[in-house]
Amino acid sequence: MNNRQLFLQHVAQTSDAPLALEIVKAAGMYMWDAKGKQYLDLIAGISVCNIGHCHPAVVKAIQDQAEQYMHLLVYGEFVQSPQVAFATALTRQLPADLNSVFFTNSGAEAIEGAMKLAKRYTGKTEIAAFNRSYHGSTQGALSILGDEYWRNAYRPLLPGIRHLEYNNYESLEQITDKTAAVIAESVQAEGGVIVPQREWIHALRDKCAATGALLILDEVQCGLGRNGTLWAFEQHGITPDILVLGKALGGGMPLGAFIASRDIMWSLTNSPVLGHITTFGGHPVNCAAGLAGFNALLEMDVIKDVKAKGQLFHERLQHPAIKSVRSLGLMMAIEMESFAVNKKVIDYCIEKGVLTDWFLFAPECLRIAPPLIITETEIRHACMIICEALDAVTAE
Ligand SMILES: Cc1ncc(COP(=O)(O)O)c(C=O)c1O
Repeated sequence: MNNRQLFLQHVAQTSDAPLALEIVKAAGMYMWDAKGKQYLDLIAGISVCNIGHCHPAVVKAIQDQAEQYMHLLVYGEFVQSPQVAFATALTRQLPADLNSVFFTNSGAEAIEGAMKLAKRYTGKTEIAAFNRSYHGSTQGALSILGDEYWRNAYRPLLPGIRHLEYNNYESLEQITDKTAAVIAESVQAEGGVIVPQREWIHALRDKCAATGALLILDEVQCGLGRNGTLWAFEQHGITPDILVLGKALGGGMPLGAFIASRDIMWSLTNSPVLGHITTFGGHPVNCAAGLAGFNALLEMDVIKDVKAKGQLFHERLQHPAIKSVRSLGLMMAIEMESFAVNKKVIDYCIEKGVLTDWFLFAPECLRIAPPLIITETEIRHACMIICEALDAVTAE
């Protein structure tokens, strides 16, 4: 059996139609398959590789840390310098109240931790989340996921969850003094890039403050520069009580975090002690990689060009088959007539060496979320291929 067959035989599958490309190398904006074919990456491993694949500083940090030590003890017991350095670097770039970082293995685990933290700190149990939101695939994260089709097969889920409408003022009335937390993506990603109206997100912030609910902002996908600023909440002009990060946080290694004030975070330390525990969360090699990636992101100064690059995509993606384009920075959803059309466009692009995808709750939309280092020439090339694909698909 070849590798592809072994993959289908022995690696558990998530769908009956995996892309199943066999990638043997990745660097910067590109991946190469076993036959040497090159792919321009327009999705960055689903918003992970913000500074490109295998950034040399990240690779070096991983090698150096692996030679010093790897796993020592479960999270939270030892002073591990990669964790300390990364937590310090992150909090330096955050508002003063977001000064305590709890590192996890993934975005979903960070969401679980944030939900538990809000319950402990407020002493309340209800949680509000939004329709069309995605926060991960574990039971708690699935309970707040904003689409009944995806939730239903796994009921019973967590009790006390309310689903509100994003960008809807009336919905905010469901946030009451029983609400422990409201969880929102700063930009709804899997919903097909839905950006909150500024006034609405301020109203949400105010409602949380008035009822004593904690506002949890999920920037797992939109954070770390993708939206055009380091944090998307900066653009909205609000500060969450708890910030959730993941994906690009580890520089390509698995790492998540929930970040709050030290006062709020302290609730996890007592009655009972060990409120959230993890063996591998904040793994020293992953924190070293994350720190190197974070420093590279800031030093390369790529975030300042994100808006202009997004704009160039807008300008070049002119085609009668495109129904709308929703975006913030380098998070873009290109709306087609249907999933069938979108899938044909995606397949055509992959055939031509441009890797793109669709969205969980917006399958009719083409996903564009490349590494932030993408150049103007690469954007022009990608847009040419997408328009060519649209010509081919609509001519059928
Ligand atoms: C907005 C958002 N939150 C949370 C998650 C969950 O992260 P992970 O897949 O690392 O568990 C995702 C993953 O796609 C996400 O997009």
